[in-house]
Amino acid sequence: MGFYQRHIVPCLTHLAMSQKQLLPYRQHIVGAAEGRVLEIGTGSGLNFPLYGPAVGSVIGLEPSAALLSMARARAQAAPVPVALLDASAEAIPLDAGSIDTVVTTWTLCTIPNASLALGEMRRVLRPGGTLLFVEHGRAPEARVARWQDRLDPFWSWFAGGCHLNRRMDDLLTAAGFRIEALQNPRLPGPRTHTYLYEGRARPA
Ligand SMILES: C[S@@+](CC[C@H](N)C(=O)[O-])C[C@H]1O[C@@H](n2cnc3c(N)ncnc32)[C@H](O)[C@@H]1O
Repeated sequence: MGFYQRHIVPCLTHLAMSQKQLLPYRQHIVGAAEGRVLEIGTGSGLNFPLYGPAVGSVIGLEPSAALLSMARARAQAAPVPVALLDASAEAIPLDAGSIDTVVTTWTLCTIPNASLALGEMRRVLRPGGTLLFVEHGRAPEARVARWQDRLDPFWSWFAGGCHLNRRMDDLLTAAGFRIEALQNPRLPGPRTHTYLYEGRARPA
């Protein structure tokens, strides 16, 4: 991995993810978490201040050393106990059925093998546990989706592996989740980057 991917991408990720317009979505998703929570691709820890009293503890899983070090101070200042876990979502080093809530915010776009990662999330969730997600992904308009496909190789390199064109609902159901709530709001900005999938799913 070169200098750009190792050092510049984490700083750009933190800046992009700090946008104020993302905060209401974070509050909505994180506010619904309860019990023992696993947050996938925790980044610089921007969700940590938002966990509420229904949460017993949070495990923030993140494979980037640079982002883990940015997340450390937010983990210490969080209103609930947060432990950081240096790992990839495709191989989660936790016991099956040991997690009440999995949280993913703008992470399924970036995980190289999102299907494998979702299988792992399903494995670690207890029966009846919840996956809470807000992601960006493939737009329903054919013209926008074609542009997403065209831009994807360049964007993915520039943005640390982020893909524009993943159909998040299909990924979830193919991995054995039953989607219980799904909304598709749009953020302001380029239509290739702003179609959201926000909701709740459980192991089917
Ligand atoms: C766009 S950032 C979102 C960060 C954070 N979830 C947020 O909302 O601010 C995507 C995150 O996915 C992480 N990521 C990339 N590959 C991953 C993998 N294999 N397993 C888990 N996380 C991964 C990145 O390191 C990065 O932190």
